Amino acid sequence: MSIISGKNILLGITAGIAAYKTASLVRLFIKAGAHVKVVMTPTAKAFITPLTLSTLSKNPVYSSFVNKDEGDATWNNHVDLGLWADFFVIAPATANTLSKMAQGTCDNLLMAVYLSAKCPVYFAPAMDLDMYKHESTINSLNILKDYGNIMIPATSGELASGLIGEGRMAEPEAIFAFLEQDILGKLPLRGKKVVITAGPTYEAIDPVRFIGNHSSGKMGFEIAKVAANLGAEVFLISGPTHQKVTHNLIDVTPVISAQDMYEAVHKHFGNCDIAILSAAVADFRPKAVAAQKIKKKEPVLTLELEKTQDILASLGRIKNKQYLVGFALETNNEIENAKGKLKNKNLDLIVLNSLNDKGAGFKTETNKVTFIDAEEHITEHPLKSKTEVAEDLWNVIIKHIHA
Ligand code: CTP
Repeated sequence: MSIISGKNILLGITAGIAAYKTASLVRLFIKAGAHVKVVMTPTAKAFITPLTLSTLSKNPVYSSFVNKDEGDATWNNHVDLGLWADFFVIAPATANTLSKMAQGTCDNLLMAVYLSAKCPVYFAPAMDLDMYKHESTINSLNILKDYGNIMIPATSGELASGLIGEGRMAEPEAIFAFLEQDILGKLPLRGKKVVITAGPTYEAIDPVRFIGNHSSGKMGFEIAKVAANLGAEVFLISGPTHQKVTHNLIDVTPVISAQDMYEAVHKHFGNCDIAILSAAVADFRPKAVAAQKIKKKEPVLTLELEKTQDILASLGRIKNKQYLVGFALETNNEIENAKGKLKNKNLDLIVLNSLNDKGAGFKTETNKVTFIDAEEHITEHPLKSKTEVAEDLWNVIIKHIHA
């Protein structure tokens, strides 16, 4: 999954011959799962038709403040467009538009949107080589960089004039790749490796039966998705679950038993920066697994159980740089029990959910949690979706690692 999936991208097109390439750019954004709207200068319509762009973007194309053609003239709200966008990409950006952006000249809808946009602005210059080298263009580019706008540099090659040199707009694939890399590079968990456990474990009794629990894995998968969207490289180690995820930053290792999970976690822990153990690991397993299906010939069956390894506690014993988070599901004396686990397992944070809270725990879409950190600061949260709980958790961790 691309990092721009689900994002709102506003494409600003100005009047350069490279405008014809923006049809491919819109396609690339749409294929990556982004929502695209296009705003173009009136003259840009001479280079590519609004119909092409609206068909590809699946949205109306905006180019004037007022839609005069309709019986009742309607106003295109530049502020709304600017606020809608997560990213504003101006491609091609002509010398004229770059100069207007640098000076704040607001003589068309695109410029009004630019001046009201609150999101990151990218621009891909396109012009003839001498225009690109002109002192006034260089001034504009420097001013725009000082404003925090991000330049997608022009490349060298044959120009519309027939001359050869620098000034060609970057190709749509290069603009797309630039945007993805830039967004990724600025994410707060970029460069961090994270291990997450999720779901239940199944402890075999015989070839067809097991001891398990009702964990759905939803909480762990949400923690993994939020982490990947924040730029982390995620190793998700999951017991049997129906949850699914496809994200190029999430590597899923499916496991069955507590022992499998223990081994998979230890394989990654040494290299990781953060570990969050949200799995509902079985505390006990049958001491011996029957080789054949157990027959019901006896009136009573006694299973001898032995303790599984406590994965979280084992990490607490060996951790050095890692930030270690555990979960606690309690039914009574919740805070005291959770504090006990925090200390005994040498954690940096524990997420407590009480089975007494409605909507918290297994098989629900929601959770009600309390965070307790190593200094025993307690933060209670109201009932929230598991995605929101995952976001709250990452906010706390990010604050800690950037402190
Ligand atoms: N955990 C683990 N390995 C185990 C058991 C638990 O990694 N074998 C982790 C869980 O993923 C969770 C935390 O430990 O992060 C939860 O511990 P919990 O099962 O609530 O507590 P226990 O320490 O097992 O104590 P008890 O069951 O007695 O409450």
